[in-house]
Amino acid sequence: MSSFLDLSQVAKSYGPAVIVEDFTLKIERGEFVSIIGHSGCGKSTVLSMIAGLTDITAGGIALSGKQVIDSGPDRGVVFQSPCLLPWLTALDNVLLGVDQVYYTATKKERRELAEYYLSLVGLGNSLHKRPGELSQGMRQRVGLARAFALSPKMLLLDEPFGMLDSLTRAELQDVLLEMWQRLKITALIITHDVDEALFLSDRVVCMTDGPAATIGDILDVKFPRPRSRAQLLEDPEYYRCREHLITFLEERSHLRPLRNHDLDLPPPLVRKPQEPASPLNRFQSNFTRWSGRKAAEA
Ligand SMILES: Nc1ncnc2c1ncn2[C@@H]1O[C@H](COP(=O)(O)OP(=O)(O)OP(=O)(O)O)[C@@H](O)[C@H]1O
Ligand SMILES: [Mg+2]
Repeated sequence: MSSFLDLSQVAKSYGPAVIVEDFTLKIERGEFVSIIGHSGCGKSTVLSMIAGLTDITAGGIALSGKQVIDSGPDRGVVFQSPCLLPWLTALDNVLLGVDQVYYTATKKERRELAEYYLSLVGLGNSLHKRPGELSQGMRQRVGLARAFALSPKMLLLDEPFGMLDSLTRAELQDVLLEMWQRLKITALIITHDVDEALFLSDRVVCMTDGPAATIGDILDVKFPRPRSRAQLLEDPEYYRCREHLITFLEERSHLRPLRNHDLDLPPPLVRKPQEPASPLNRFQSNFTRWSGRKAAEA
């Protein structure tokens, strides 16, 4: 049976520059997967190809058995900054997408849906505030509500909490996990934060450095859910996982994994053993050196 999200030997190049190569990853329905890797390696490029916002150069991406060729409401995308329309309230910003996707529902139903998701992210009392009246964390909550309200098959998050302070970040991680569990959605998040990856995910995909970045390692994260930070911090396994990821980023991300086609390379050339030097050989090489010197002097 095929996986829910299936990336098969995906590659992306811009002209001669190979950004991502041979990227093969399968994600099961309901899984929460993180991608970590150094800045500029190609994480956003991978996410953008899954979102259908960037064309792939080679390989294939299938979501729920259907080839991804374009963007669509079956994939909700949350970026670092939620890009809300400043003249619309939180409710109207969420309604923008809801009105387009659920155009057959009544106005009242659509409004109730948007209000429901805004309440889930803790903004039940701020429905009528404009982005200028919301904190950065609250704006990102609107971004999450907007993505979840469209009931996507898959949620794609590109460093969604990268601009938040650590307390707000932790709060929003809890909101995200709560909604992911309640709505049984499949999620892929890009993060620079090893602790965030371990707290949220079932697997952490480690990308090698670019150019031609690919998957260098995948770590299974088996802590029971629901997770609590306090419990994780007491678990020696947590420190082993953390060490594993940090070691990858510091020492192994520049190494390329061995691939099948690497094995097809011709064997290295073997030098012919030198013939033992006979008196005649010695004379010939001395003569060659001597005639070379004479030619240079002439
Ligand atoms: N439209 C484009 N044209 C040419 N090169 C591009 C384009 N978009 C991205 N790149 C290059 O692709 C590489 C990967 O970029 P990408 O944004 O995917 O990295 P990233 O891993 O998400 O980095 P960061 O962690 O800093 O967000 C970079 O070298 C970037 O310069
Ligand atoms: Mg990026």
